[in-house]
Amino acid sequence: MIEVNSTIKDYLNVRHKALVVGVFEGQQASDFKVLNELTNDEIFEDFKTNEFNGELKKISMYHSKKEPKRIMFIGLGKREEFNKERARECAAHAAKFLQNRNFKAFSIELFEGLEPYDAAYAINEGIQLALYNFLYYKTRELDKINQITKYEIKCAKSNKKDVDKAIEHSNKVIKAVYLARDLANEPSSDKNPDLMVKRIKEEVKGTTLKLKVLDYEEIKKLGMNLIVAVNKGSAYPAKFVILEHKAKAKEKVVLVGKGITFDSGGIQLKPERGLEEMKYDICGAATVVATLKAVNELNLNINVVGLVPLTENMPSGAAYKPGDIFKSYSGKTVEILHTDAEGRLILADALAYAKKFKPSAVIDLATLTGACVVALGNEYAGLFSNDETLSNKIKNAGDSVYERVWPMPLVEEYKDDIKSAFADIKNLGERGSAGAITAALFLQEFIDYPWAHIDIAGTAYILKDKPYKPKGGTGFGVRLLVEMLENWKK
Ligand code: BES
Ligand code: ZN
Ligand code: ZN
Repeated sequence: MIEVNSTIKDYLNVRHKALVVGVFEGQQASDFKVLNELTNDEIFEDFKTNEFNGELKKISMYHSKKEPKRIMFIGLGKREEFNKERARECAAHAAKFLQNRNFKAFSIELFEGLEPYDAAYAINEGIQLALYNFLYYKTRELDKINQITKYEIKCAKSNKKDVDKAIEHSNKVIKAVYLARDLANEPSSDKNPDLMVKRIKEEVKGTTLKLKVLDYEEIKKLGMNLIVAVNKGSAYPAKFVILEHKAKAKEKVVLVGKGITFDSGGIQLKPERGLEEMKYDICGAATVVATLKAVNELNLNINVVGLVPLTENMPSGAAYKPGDIFKSYSGKTVEILHTDAEGRLILADALAYAKKFKPSAVIDLATLTGACVVALGNEYAGLFSNDETLSNKIKNAGDSVYERVWPMPLVEEYKDDIKSAFADIKNLGERGSAGAITAALFLQEFIDYPWAHIDIAGTAYILKDKPYKPKGGTGFGVRLLVEMLENWKK
């Protein structure tokens, strides 16, 4: 993470060489009188000639003889259109611009147009999330990669308290997003179930989180035969992780995350192109583990349980096959019609197990279907729920932090599509028809409590950089869930 501080606004007393200042469209040159004097009237000149006019994300850099040596204007667009997301994006854009130009540190003036707390929160998210990198496996030319190591937010004295609170809170959440991204980006060779458990144990150390790990024998003994089935082709035994954050509260939310450490598709092997992406099939689990860390660090007054079934999905002589039938933890029998529809199988056992915790609500997150990517792309996750209050909670939290979800229907009629001739249910719907919905309907067979399923196949990782999301795992869901859990009772 990048070190961040707040200081009281005084242009002539900047700790760092560069100062970033947000400018709205239509702002008057006279608003920048002090800075203009440092730049030999260049700022006024640019306003006069319209070379810089505050247009969204436009950058203008000025040199000054005194401190700050560089003054960077970043366009914030129209004041009336400004919001937290624009603040994140503008801060991210400015930070990346400076990092690319070999700056090591900078100061940024608190953006106007938002509550000071929200502005500082969004600035910190934008900057920290944009500058995240995954360099653990690089051994060469690291010295050529410039990294900003610290920055400060400049604000009026009256806002300092709010700014500091925002920094403290957001840092805890951002740290969790970093963890979720790290777990996603980690190569599968270094995150088999056993190694994942070791990693989670390290993360739990020094916290008040309770950790219990069911090993393969216990999973089998409990009758979680769908997890066992998916695990059959893998050389690494499955694990089932239970994390608990305890609070003096009535409510208990159980979070379930799909933890496929690599999805080859099993014997119905996936196409070779893009197969490396399937290391991301662990993103649901990564988000759940990271969210528990954040919830614990923020000491939220709500009980939260994380359930994470972990296994690879691999082909081998022992692998499960189409036509196989297994008895799930819930007692329902499942006919396998596709070995690549493994996520819903491990989730089914985890969801049925969740009942044991007497949950107020259960939310599962999973990179579950390619169909959801087709439907919603990588900006919206699919939301399925049997409970409108819960669904609204999730949707509102998602809108607030800009991890957006879109409600999808659990279509009664499509339940016929997952009826099996030989077992109670099959793990595949009609080919090419409502794949994200039939997957959710399959999960619904294993729950009898307020439940929501978030299909993050499109949003959990991206193949091209976005303003504050570098290529790879995005950590989608961590900020949403923390926001939701924090406002649970409201
Ligand atoms: N992990 C995949 C879903 C996925 C696809 C995630 C693309 C991210 C990007 C899941 O296990 C899977 O293979 N689903 C199949 C289901 C099908 C066989 C019914 C799919 O979506 O094609
Ligand atoms: Zn699959
Ligand atoms: Zn999968």
